[in-house]
Amino acid sequence: MPVSNAIIKRKSVRNYTSASLTLDGLSVLLWATQGVRAVLSSSTALRTVPSAGSHHAFETYLAVNRVDGLASGLYRYLPFDAQLAQLRIDSDIGKKSASACLGQRFVASVALTFFWTVIPYRTEWRYDLAAHKVIAIDAGIYVRTFTSYSRKPLSHEVLRG
Ligand SMILES: Cc1cc2nc3c(=O)[nH]c(=O)nc-3n(C[C@H](O)[C@H](O)[C@H](O)COP(=O)(O)O)c2cc1C
Repeated sequence: MPVSNAIIKRKSVRNYTSASLTLDGLSVLLWATQGVRAVLSSSTALRTVPSAGSHHAFETYLAVNRVDGLASGLYRYLPFDAQLAQLRIDSDIGKKSASACLGQRFVASVALTFFWTVIPYRTEWRYDLAAHKVIAIDAGIYVRTFTSYSRKPLSHEVLRG
């Protein structure tokens, strides 16, 4: 599709499937948005997404409602280990996520919600007052990458091949 058509047809969609997400599907989304491509030194790594100065201030937390093989609850992604840390099992995580998203009720019933948090110091020491600008730009890239992959997840093999 020509880019101009894609721009004209773009709109926000809030219809969600009631199906569960597979672990493979989730791991593709995590890898696409946070995956480590190469470790250059103890302080620098390259990832699947760009980041101003490669400082990667974001952390990924997951509120899992329906992912095959995972108990409902709160998880943190550990990109250097490509693993999930289970922080809390919580069958009410959907409602709590909706509340955290200013009461947007559809959030309570989705398979999972990505929460991206920021450790501002990772960019502030370098960018000073401009740090929050580059954090916002990095966030936009995360969302763009996420939405590209969440529509039609590819397998890890395809992505890494
Ligand atoms: C920074 C930003 C934050 C947004 N936050 C939400 C949100 O929390 N919930 C939601 O349903 N839509 C959210 N949206 C989508 C907007 O509501 C949506 O773009 C707007 O209603 C216009 O609709 P359209 O995207 O179909 O043109 C957000 C959009 C932006 C740019």
